[in-house]
Amino acid sequence: MELLLFLSFCFLTLSGLTFGAESGPPDSRVIVMEDDDVTLPCSLSTNENIEKKLFVWKKEGTVPLKEVFMYDAGTYSRGQDDEFKGRVSHFPEQLKYGNASIRMSKTTLEDRGIYICSFPVMQPSVKTSRIELVVGAAPEPYVTILKEKGLLQCKVPGASPKPTVEWWDSDNKKLPSKTVQDEEEQGRFHVTVQTTVTEPGCYHCVATQMEKWHRISSEICVHRGLPEWAAALIGGLVVFIIALVIALAVTAYCLKKDSQRTEIGPSSELQRNLTSHQP
Ligand SMILES: *[C@@H]1O[C@H](CO)[C@@H](O)[C@H](O)[C@H]1NC(C)=O
Repeated sequence: MELLLFLSFCFLTLSGLTFGAESGPPDSRVIVMEDDDVTLPCSLSTNENIEKKLFVWKKEGTVPLKEVFMYDAGTYSRGQDDEFKGRVSHFPEQLKYGNASIRMSKTTLEDRGIYICSFPVMQPSVKTSRIELVVGAAPEPYVTILKEKGLLQCKVPGASPKPTVEWWDSDNKKLPSKTVQDEEEQGRFHVTVQTTVTEPGCYHCVATQMEKWHRISSEICVHRGLPEWAAALIGGLVVFIIALVIALAVTAYCLKKDSQRTEIGPSSELQRNLTSHQP
């Protein structure tokens, strides 16, 4: 029993270390599109002046936690993690209102995660706030008809966070579909979904990220297909007509060349004679 307790203690400690901090849902969530700037909020509820205080911003997920920003009574830490160097600032004029928010510029997908803002030496102690940063890369659905018989494909490349991809009919009813690609590559998701339709009409592929935060759709219309024998007949006819036109063109060209060859000599001589005979 004691061993079991000890082991579970070890496990909990280790998992705490592995995930690098507290767990549970964050206090708030901030969403930004990649490459844009974002403000991560953190304020003392007392609005107490913090110009002469210490506050620290860290990012969860590594051991030790990555240091994002540290303010200590007018000085800044040199221990900042390389990936945040030159990209994180704070609002000096806001310190007197207890506002320790920071601004991060040029966000990348790697910046997504949970950030914690703490006042380690404040008395009485202040609750650490955890803010989730979601960095979005908007998706664009590309729709194609794979087979005239009604196999439709929707490809959504490089989206973040992961999109749900659905095929809807013109009444916005979801169609049964099959996911043929579902991959993640450095935080970007590539999703491809196919559906088979039997009726002509217009269909749209809808890609949705984080509930309804970002939703975009692309439409494609399927026309009533021809029976195969009719398609073959039309195809054959087209080839025949093209061949005929080429044959006619070649014949006409050859005839023209022939007649030119017989005309050139005498007629030009005749013309020269005519002009020289003029007074
Ligand atoms: C803290 O300062 C930032 C930047 O000026 C501002 O956007 C934010 O609203 C402030 N927070 C509070 C709680 O006043």
